[in-house]
Amino acid sequence: MNRPTVPVCDYEGSTYQTDFWDAGGREYEDQAEAVAIKRLMPHKGNRLLEVGAGAGRNTMRYAGFDQIVLLDYSRTQLEQAQARLGRSERFVFVAADVYRLPFGSTVFDAATMIRTLHHLAEPEDALRNIHQSLARGATFLLEYANKQNVKAILRWAMRQQEWNPFHHDTIEFAELNYDFHPAMVGKWLSETGFCVQRKLTVSHLRAGFLKRTVPLRVLVGLDSALQWTGNWWQLSPSVFVQSCVEGEPESISKDLVWRCPSCGSVDLKSSPGGLECDHCDRVWPLSDGIYDFKGE
Ligand SMILES: C[S@@+](CC[C@H](N)C(=O)[O-])C[C@H]1O[C@@H](n2cnc3c(N)ncnc32)[C@H](O)[C@@H]1O
Repeated sequence: MNRPTVPVCDYEGSTYQTDFWDAGGREYEDQAEAVAIKRLMPHKGNRLLEVGAGAGRNTMRYAGFDQIVLLDYSRTQLEQAQARLGRSERFVFVAADVYRLPFGSTVFDAATMIRTLHHLAEPEDALRNIHQSLARGATFLLEYANKQNVKAILRWAMRQQEWNPFHHDTIEFAELNYDFHPAMVGKWLSETGFCVQRKLTVSHLRAGFLKRTVPLRVLVGLDSALQWTGNWWQLSPSVFVQSCVEGEPESISKDLVWRCPSCGSVDLKSSPGGLECDHCDRVWPLSDGIYDFKGE
């Protein structure tokens, strides 16, 4: 089964949504991301997996999907998402680790992972796990923090920063916070079975003085135009990559097929307390509308 020992950047109890987004002066970044998502995601689909969904900031941007599974390691982030989206069969809330995904194969025809790869110490393992739960032909939208951005290049050129933004190694700029080189992300995607289709560079104008002086809609309009350069070069702090699962497209499973993260069995049945594994008898709790697969 998936490795259980990779360290996780734990957002349990965090006020990330309110501090960073709602009161953090990041309307420009939020709207620029919305533009990229609209451009890169299919407008219709069956079942989408949102990895590192957080408080569901982006979930309503996938409006054309019949069902959306919000997966996050932090239960409190999912509680905030549930408060935002409400409880219905359309939204499934899952507390789990991306390194121990609780899904069978061919369960999803799309997945997204936005602002989450930069917390992953083992990005390739995470991508491999996501790939396993997607059907052939499925779309995967990945956002990552780009170490080769203009600000980092200037700082390095002026000797204010030691690390070289053009080198392919990953930079851990704070504990469990990583900036990646575009070449490495492309390599990991292709090695894990994804076929890169399009890249958009996002948040080119992320600078305090610009955000203070230029009207928001002008900034977003400029960023929207610059995003198209992403297929040729990537010099922005954030990059969105659209890829697909290689192979002849196939249908996804009719039902959401769960997999026991402990033993790997897909024989899980609903019990009063949650989902019970027929193979190892483990019960994965469901409480207040959130499935919990975090235990060992
Ligand atoms: C920076 S937040 C981004 C949230 C959301 N995608 C957004 O853009 O607003 C990163 C999220 O990734 C989640 N996360 C980090 N490591 C994870 C892991 N190993 N498995 C699942 N979720 C993880 C955190 O709990 C957090 O909610």
